Amino acid sequence: MIATDMKDIATRADIELLVNAFYEKVMKDELLAPVFQHIDLPHHLPVLYNFWASVLLGDQSYKSNPFAKHIHLPIDTKHFDRWLSLFTGTVDEHFAGDKAEEAKQRALSIAGIFQHKLGLLK
Ligand code: HEM
Repeated sequence: MIATDMKDIATRADIELLVNAFYEKVMKDELLAPVFQHIDLPHHLPVLYNFWASVLLGDQSYKSNPFAKHIHLPIDTKHFDRWLSLFTGTVDEHFAGDKAEEAKQRALSIAGIFQHKLGLLK
């Protein structure tokens, strides 16, 4: 691990900061923002807090099926590449450590599974 002053992701407050900062970027992104145009963020963001708190902190607050929500979205590999680059950039701007690395790794792996299931990977 590289020595740094930045703290690792450790609490639900950290997860909320990460998700909020990520969505700020998403909503300013010309490729991704249109996909979220009809999403009610005050409802959606707490679902994402639960998702990432379950993945990274193991609190089991997310109990749904994330893939199902992506089946009918107008997205292809371009969108996934951008999503991943914004997510990774957001993690690196705010956190460093094992959980931060795990967050990026899990995002990459889930994005791969989503793209595979959507038939986007040749
Ligand atoms: C191209 C990349 C992606 C785009 C454009 C995208 C977009 C969206 C949108 C618009 C929703 C709201 C759907 C709805 O409520 O009807 C959503 C939900 C969600 N997304 Fe993504 N997504 C992407 C990739 C990912 C990845 C890689 C992950 C996980 C690492 C993820 C995790 C989730 C979760 C947990 C939800 C909430 C599902 C629920 O309501 O239970 N997304 N996404």
